[in-house]
Amino acid sequence: MKDEEKTRAQLLEELAALRRELDDLHAFADPEWRRQEKWRQNFKQLREMLEGVVAVLDCRVPDLVEHQRRVTHLACAIAQELGLSAEQIEGLSIAGMVHDIGKVFVPLEILHKSSSLDAAEMSLIQAHPRAAHYILKDLDFSQPVAEIIVQHHERLDGSGYPAGLAGEEILLEARILAVPDVVEAMAYSRPHRVNLGINTALQEISQSRGILYDPQVVDACLGLFDRGFDFL
Ligand SMILES: [Fe+2]
Repeated sequence: MKDEEKTRAQLLEELAALRRELDDLHAFADPEWRRQEKWRQNFKQLREMLEGVVAVLDCRVPDLVEHQRRVTHLACAIAQELGLSAEQIEGLSIAGMVHDIGKVFVPLEILHKSSSLDAAEMSLIQAHPRAAHYILKDLDFSQPVAEIIVQHHERLDGSGYPAGLAGEEILLEARILAVPDVVEAMAYSRPHRVNLGINTALQEISQSRGILYDPQVVDACLGLFDRGFDFL
């Protein structure tokens, strides 16, 4: 159609489309926009890939996948309370959804054992953060997902594992993940332990505030439950 045959409405519509293209070009020229766009695409691809991994894990140990889901939900809520950036929270959500993936190397009879674990079995379980790091260390993502995961059983006073890191040697995201990990594990039953309930779990993190767990993370967690947080 020649320009002179177009209606005013058609011409205005074409003009608006050209403006949108121009805006996109401006955005593309902005390095910060390009960085964020790359991050969004990486995050989406990574999430889709890990959702596949989680689905496989779900066939083997469904209660573990539920644990990871609930821990991620609370960890991200705490991170929001503490004012972490959107990128840090996305990194934490990825770490949370697969933080126990290293348990795929632990025999099912140990994972499902209802009596207490002996020293050898415990050391197999305690190898899971390093196993997860081995699986995830080469991920191409802007956030330190494998590092967060390998540190999620470290404790503020250096009594955790696998490296015995202390205080701020432990990534903030790992200090966050540690708290919902413990709260969820205590609040829900495990094969070798009955459900102790949410109040006992919150008491435990209060008593160990500033000793095992980051005090700001504990306060944020308690505040969320005070305001009616639910694991769902
Ligand atoms: Fe763990």
